[in-house]
Amino acid sequence: MDRFYFPSWVNRLVVLLGLGAGAGATYLAVAYTYGTLPSTLNVGYSPEQPVPFSHQLHAGELKMDCRYCHTTVEKSSFAAVPPTATCINCHSGAGPNGTTEYTAVHATSLKLLPIRESARTGKPVDWQKIHDLADYVYFNHAAHVNRGVSCVECHGRVDRMERVWQDKTLSMAFCLDCHRDPVPRLRPPNEITNLAWTDQPDPSDPESMKKHAEEMQKYYGEIHASTNCSTCHR
Ligand code: HEC
Ligand code: HEC
Ligand code: HEC
Ligand code: HEC
Ligand code: HEC
Repeated sequence: MDRFYFPSWVNRLVVLLGLGAGAGATYLAVAYTYGTLPSTLNVGYSPEQPVPFSHQLHAGELKMDCRYCHTTVEKSSFAAVPPTATCINCHSGAGPNGTTEYTAVHATSLKLLPIRESARTGKPVDWQKIHDLADYVYFNHAAHVNRGVSCVECHGRVDRMERVWQDKTLSMAFCLDCHRDPVPRLRPPNEITNLAWTDQPDPSDPESMKKHAEEMQKYYGEIHASTNCSTCHR
């Protein structure tokens, strides 16, 4: 009886196929592990908002300071999202006989309808939360903002975002990376909300690092960003 023999090049093909399958499985395992770590899941998260509010327009082009709207950021752990009244300062609707207030911007814009509805009914706008640490982590805005840490360190260039997304992992490694050596990343108090600030010291120039450290010492005194577990897990 005749037997069929595979040509010898098939052996190489079999090895190659085996390698391919192995690499594929490894790739999948790695992608799964890293792709689903809680720390990497949220970067880029950008839920649709009930009103297409643009930071690029308000904070970028119109140059409104972050604290005009996020009023509690220097005083409390929490950086409150503004109430409807803040928007109404500029976006009040048309009056009863169609007149608009002198200062009203886009008084009849459909995009602003939920704002006018909220002002009329007193029901807050249903803004969707973007950044959300696990409940077992303690965080405090005032502690950072008042010691020279800018919004941009943790939120990226919000002043260039049409719709806000999460820009940093906000993972434990991210927090600790700065806590181990925060001083080079601090800045003067009047530049905290200026996300475009570029006067950082040059790490390759010891003289500029030293000058920066002395300047920060003048503003904030001794800085010690703790890496003890109980600082953030209390
Ligand atoms: C005119 C008011 C206004 C100004 C000025 C403003 N914001 Fe906001 N901000 C809002 C509103 C409203 C929301 C909620 C809707 C949204 O996410 O866009 C928000 C949301 C955010 C969020 C996301 C909050 C979350 O849910 O996690 C961040 C971060 C933020 N702002 C940072 C900034 C920074 C940094 C600046 C200054 C560069 C700034 N904002 C200036 C009104 C403002
Ligand atoms: C200090 C004044 C001021 C405040 C406060 C303000 N805005 Fe505005 N907003 C403007 C101006 C000015 C424009 C229009 C810019 C243009 O059309 O060139 C605008 C445009 C808009 C638009 C686009 C409207 C359209 O039809 O194109 C939306 C949406 C909007 N703002 C939402 C908000 C929300 C939500 C708040 C409150 C969190 C808010 N604004 C607070 C000044 C303000
Ligand atoms: C050191 C990092 C860091 C800095 C600096 C920082 N934030 Fe945040 N921000 C966070 C984290 C983390 C959260 C999520 C907090 C949570 O879920 O408990 C957050 C949440 C927010 C929120 C949603 C409301 C809240 O408090 O949960 C707003 C609005 C906000 N930040 C605005 C700002 C503005 C404006 C600045 C600068 C003046 C700023 N942040 C500086 C890390 C930071
Ligand atoms: C860019 C630098 C930087 C980043 C990023 C950063 N921190 Fe800090 N953190 C600081 C500095 C500076 C202090 C103040 C140290 C001091 O007061 O001497 C501080 C203080 C703290 C404190 C003490 C607050 C208090 O009540 O005294 C906590 C809690 C904290 N950080 C949590 C976090 C968490 C959680 C994250 C990540 C989501 C984070 N930090 C990211 C620089 C940073
Ligand atoms: C500067 C703040 C900070 C310090 C200090 C800190 N952690 Fe964390 N920790 C975090 C943050 C932020 C997360 C992630 C929370 C999230 O995913 O929302 C986290 C998450 C964790 C988790 C959950 C698993 C994970 O990796 O996501 C464990 C366990 C943990 N921390 C243990 C510790 C221990 C043990 C220490 C002391 C050696 C410590 N942490 C110090 C901020 C901190």
